[in-house]
Order: sequence, then C-alpha cells, then structure tokens
Amino acid sequence: MKRVLLIIGGGIAAYKSLDLVRRLRERGYAVRVVLTQAAQSFVTPLTAGALTNERVFTDLFDLDDEREIGHIRLSRETDLIVIAPATADLLAKMAGGHANDLATAVLLATDKPVLAAPAMNPRMWLHPATRRNVDQLQRDGIHFVGPNSGEMAERGEAGPGRMAEPLEIVASIERVMAISQPGAHGQTPQKGDPNLHAATLAGRHVLVTSGPTHEPLDPVRYIANRSSGKQGHAIAAAAARRGARVTLVSGPVAIPDPEGVTTVHVETADEMLKAVEAALPADIGIFAAAVADWRVASAATEKIKKDPRSRAPALALVENPDILRTIAGAGAARPGLLIGFAAETQNVVEHAKKKRKSKGADWIVANDVSPATDVMGGDRNTIHLVTETGLEDWPQMDKHEVADRLIERAARHLEKFREL
Ligand SMILES: Cc1cc2nc3c(=O)[nH]c(=O)nc-3n(C[C@H](O)[C@H](O)[C@H](O)COP(=O)(O)O)c2cc1C
Repeated sequence: MKRVLLIIGGGIAAYKSLDLVRRLRERGYAVRVVLTQAAQSFVTPLTAGALTNERVFTDLFDLDDEREIGHIRLSRETDLIVIAPATADLLAKMAGGHANDLATAVLLATDKPVLAAPAMNPRMWLHPATRRNVDQLQRDGIHFVGPNSGEMAERGEAGPGRMAEPLEIVASIERVMAISQPGAHGQTPQKGDPNLHAATLAGRHVLVTSGPTHEPLDPVRYIANRSSGKQGHAIAAAAARRGARVTLVSGPVAIPDPEGVTTVHVETADEMLKAVEAALPADIGIFAAAVADWRVASAATEKIKKDPRSRAPALALVENPDILRTIAGAGAARPGLLIGFAAETQNVVEHAKKKRKSKGADWIVANDVSPATDVMGGDRNTIHLVTETGLEDWPQMDKHEVADRLIERAARHLEKFREL
C-alpha cells in the first residue's frame, strides 16, 4: 500500500485537503495527517482522524507521540510527503531550514520526496520573499503543484494563489511517486540524476508560442482551428516558475495571460512569425501554437456579400510561413534548444520523427489530437517526446504536469550543455 504523509498548513484551503484525503483513500493510499497549530483553526484533528482512520499528529513535544511514533518515524514511514495547503509561512520556514514545530521538523528530517501545494493571497505569492523561497525550494528538489489563478476566498481578490484542486494534487502525487526513487531528495545532488534537484532557468530567456492563429477571409470571417492555448500557456507559466524570463506569443485564446510572463498577442501566422523574430534571442524556443498552414491568398477588405445569383466564393489558399523551420534556420539567432509540437491524427510518432529532421528542431513533442482523445481544448494530454537520442512515451497527464516535466527536461538539457 502506498503511504502519504499529509501536512496541512494554516490556510483557508485546509478544508480542501480533507477532500484530498478522501480522494487518496479511494485510491488505496494510507494517509497520515500532521496539522500545524494554525491549521487547527481551520480543520479539527477529529475530522482529519475520522477521514484517515489514523491518529492525527499535531505536536512536536507530545511525549506519548514521540515515544510511540516520533517525527523521525513519521518522515520515514511514508513514501511521499504532501504539504497542502503550503502556506507562505511554511514555505519560508522550509527554505530557511527551520524545525521548530512538528511539520517543519518532519520536513527537515525526511529523505522522501516532498510535494507542496501552495495556497495564499496573490500578493503573498508574488512577494519577492515568497518568490525567493519557492526558487530555493525548487533547487532543493521540492516538487510543486499549483497554485492556480482565480478568485480568492477574500472578496474582490483574484490572481495566482488558489490551491490546486484535490484531483490535480492526486495526479501530481502519482507523477512524483513514479519519477522518485527512495532516498532521492535531501541528499547531496549528483550530476545526471534527474530526481535530486530541480534545475533552474534563472537568467534564461524562454520563448513560447501558444494557441491557434486566425487567418482572415474578410474583416469579419476567419479560418481557425480548435487549439485552446492551454498547453502552450502552461509551458510558459512553468518556465516562469523555474525563474526564466518568458515571452509568450499567443494567438487568439479565451484563457488569461499567465502570471509573470510577457505575453504578445497576435492573430495571424505572419504576425506570429514577426513577434517571434522580434523576441529573439532566446535560450529555449518552444513552439506549441497550432499555426494555420494556409491563409486566403488575398483577404477581402470588405465583408464578402452573399449573392443568391452567384455561386459560393472559391477560396484560393496560399501557404503560411513555417515558423519552426524559419527559426531553426536563423543561424546565430536560433535558440540553443528548439522544441516543436506535432499535432497529428494518425501515425503520430512516425510523423513527429520526420518533422524533427525536416524542420531542424531539436525535439518534437508529438500528440494525438484526433477527436476521441479530447486533447484539443481538453485539460489532459498524452505526448511522445522525440529527441535526438530517441523516443519517450509519457503517460497521460494534466497539461500543467506535461508543462512542468517538459520544462524540467529542457532546463536539465541546458545544464548539461553548460557542463560540457
Ligand atoms: C483567516 C485566515 C486565513 C489565512 N489564510 C492563509 C492562506 O491561505 N495562506 C497562507 O499562506 N497564510 C494564511 N493565513 C496566515 C497563516 O495562517 C499564518 O501565516 C500562520 O502562521 C501559518 O502557520 P503554518 O504555516 O504553521 O500553518 C491565514 C490566516 C488567517 C487568520
């Protein structure tokens, strides 16, 4: 049975962690809960105990607890530690190596993977102190899920800081368990071991394209595709969380600009290419936009009128610029790591391998966008990563997890490059 130690911090989102317990138990996890002192103002040990069917731990200096199962055993007898909600205060204490209560003592004593689900007011999350702490914790190998952007519990407050939803946290727990080996976190990082520390992108420029393009037929009509921008935007946000300066060139989408990212809004493939060229140089280019292959040869300047006497107008199409190929051939301006996306409905991997070579990209992220997969516009994605050395089939994941994992891979690639 997989074991999770859930540390609940003192935030409004603590109530959601009770649902997280329920979701984990449904999936067969054994869950132990540690409540911080502040957390007990939001949820009671009684409720947490009833849901876990286990003792709930609250006090570092409880003699009975220490004799029976002390803080060292709590950290040892688990496969993973989750902190949800991870308050600004807990993140600060962890980044500073404090251990003055049960939660922080367990966290400092553990060699198990740790996943934090931050939840706080957007200003707390964006405060330079929290930015510094999160950056430090990422370097220390702490995994993060969320926070999401949206309305806060406080009226009139919106922005990044909402705790990830329980099911998003469950998905991250499963991902972290899958990629973590026992004893990975908390030891001296060794070169080449992907689990030991999170690579940083501080000082790097990451250029991402996202969304569809709209190719006008006339002033009111256009050709478009079903891309939602969710994957590209998640990649831009993940790169920003890793400390990169991020430029996102986005086609028309219905989702908000990611926090901490410079977003350039464009409509057509031509405009997207110009914006990408203007944003260079970049260390990493990730072209996730679903750029229209064709546009109308000459868009009408006035609305095309319906005329019952004549036939429907024929559309003469011309090819749009190929942004990936153009930038791959940009010589010194070419990003050091260039990643293209291949959306296919059949022979996905085969096409992606060909595309990598023919376009001059370093990696291709291939995904099956046939209607049955619900990838276009949906929240999940199953990708195949084609690199210079081979093929990786990733399990189905939330688009945010795909983004985190891709950015982690890209950051490590750059680190390796620097070490050579
Ligand atoms: C009503 C209320 C809601 C709070 N919500 C949050 C929150 O969502 N996130 C956060 O970081 N701190 C929040 N705080 C502040 C923390 O409770 C406070 O920093 C506390 O010391 C955290 O302790 P802990 O990190 O040991 O759980 C809140 C405080 C109050 C009174």
